[in-house]
Amino acid sequence: MKTPKPLDINITENLPTNEASFDLIANALETVGYAIIADCLPIALSLALSERIILISSECKRAGVGRGQTHLIDDLIRSDGIHWLQTGNLVETAYLKWMEQLRLGLNRRLFLGLFDYESHFAVYETGGGYHKHLDAFQGTSNRLLSTVFYLNPHWLPEHCGELLIHGPIGDILLETIPPDFGTMVIFQSAVFPHEVAITQHKRYSIAGWFRGRGA
Ligand code: OGA
Ligand code: MN
Repeated sequence: MKTPKPLDINITENLPTNEASFDLIANALETVGYAIIADCLPIALSLALSERIILISSECKRAGVGRGQTHLIDDLIRSDGIHWLQTGNLVETAYLKWMEQLRLGLNRRLFLGLFDYESHFAVYETGGGYHKHLDAFQGTSNRLLSTVFYLNPHWLPEHCGELLIHGPIGDILLETIPPDFGTMVIFQSAVFPHEVAITQHKRYSIAGWFRGRGA
């Protein structure tokens, strides 16, 4: 049996949250609509999450595309395996707690009315990707802000698999973001179409959404 490490205690109690980084995120969301933050979480938490995703990656279920009844799995559109985060696990709870602090911090600064947060681990195998899409359509979803947190140490340019963020109108590529360990990207769900470029290496992340009140 694996004995619990002191790390496991540190990440669940007195998790340091950083008001200064909340200021930066809020300011970026207000001015450009998205934020890219390197080394966003406490390192102990990022490391624990990266161990966790490797452990559960074999149990990840194929993600579906589409709304309501049309929950079809389509290799051509997206190819990630997912596992929803739950409070039954200490490491997942620690992440959810940190994001809860962020939710409160953003509500205090921007009055967005973020009500709750849902998130899943995502694993893309080599050759996988996710076509250009919006995470929410204005007025039809309660997803307000999308978050992606990356768990890939030593990501190289030849691994590709970048997150591409497009402008809301026209076909302007705004950002090309490698999924580097510790980087968090946050953007307005109904505003920015985005895609995951075909990855040449196994790619680990946590995708999540802050939602408004009402389903
Ligand atoms: C998503 C998504 C982006 C990424 O899961 O909806 O767009 O970089 N993910 O993993
Ligand atoms: Mn998306």
